[in-house]
Amino acid sequence: MSVCYAVASGKGGVGKSTITAGLGAAIARSGSRVLIIDADIGLRSQDAILSLENRVVYDLIDLAEGDCTLDQAVLPSDAVRGLFLLPAAQFSRAKKLDPDRFAKILRSLRQSYDYIFIDCPAGVERGLRNVLNAGVDEEILIATPDDISVRSAERTWQVMESKKLNRPWLIVNRLDEELVRSAGMMSARTVSEVLDLPLLGEIPDDPVVLRAALKHALFMDYDCEARNAVMRIASRLSGRSVPFPGYGTQKQSWIRRLFSRPLKEVSPIDDH
Ligand SMILES: Nc1ncnc2c1ncn2[C@@H]1O[C@H](COP(=O)(O)OP(=O)(O)OP(=O)(O)O)[C@@H](O)[C@H]1O
Ligand SMILES: [Mg+2]
Repeated sequence: MSVCYAVASGKGGVGKSTITAGLGAAIARSGSRVLIIDADIGLRSQDAILSLENRVVYDLIDLAEGDCTLDQAVLPSDAVRGLFLLPAAQFSRAKKLDPDRFAKILRSLRQSYDYIFIDCPAGVERGLRNVLNAGVDEEILIATPDDISVRSAERTWQVMESKKLNRPWLIVNRLDEELVRSAGMMSARTVSEVLDLPLLGEIPDDPVVLRAALKHALFMDYDCEARNAVMRIASRLSGRSVPFPGYGTQKQSWIRRLFSRPLKEVSPIDDH
């Protein structure tokens, strides 16, 4: 039986899809079967992030409407063994996802995967509510360390609270260590205190994430601080106690800024 996480945010563009893909890859590479469900109907992105866009034939809406089978809709990742994607529909005709059918699909998918991550649409509209009503086990809220993102994350947390859901985990993304140190940016701990949510992890703003995406690759395949941070979060989700060492020393950070290093590939840990 699987553990199912809904990955949500208040504001859009804070890194939900990127971090979800990274977590999925990290956990799959440690030997589990992982499914990512792209629930951002009309604005799908996981197919592009996982370089599966040319393979999408059926999507979540087709599945909900009975136009295909689970096996036809779910795509295995080429790059990461054990990682699978159920893509979202791309067009607005598909804006409606029947919540009961979604819940039923989720129940049957739970038999086949160890972990399911649902990449939610931003905000607190029906798309998020459908996911929250479908019987997920845990919620993860992603926020960037700015006032607007934090305020909208608070609103999303209120919606979860009104549904009597668990207190979500918090991931703070796109931190700039030097700005945090000079008090020009909130630290992850401050965001966690403001929202009164338990901190699952903090991820630096890392140019390798964007550079990897330009190469149609996932940042998890490169030696970078964002990858290290996501690996730590994946370990915590797998039940291991991993301390919060931050995301690198000051020296590494400025050297990285001074010399933009070429992308260095790493062999995935425990890859099969
Ligand atoms: N830690 C990071 N460092 C640098 N760039 C990042 C980081 N995390 C995400 N990004 C970049 O931020 C942009 C938005 O990320 P992403 O699409 O994952 O956000 P999202 O929350 O899923 O957005 P939406 O709400 O539109 O679905 C992407 O270009 C992504 O590459
Ligand atoms: Mg997204």
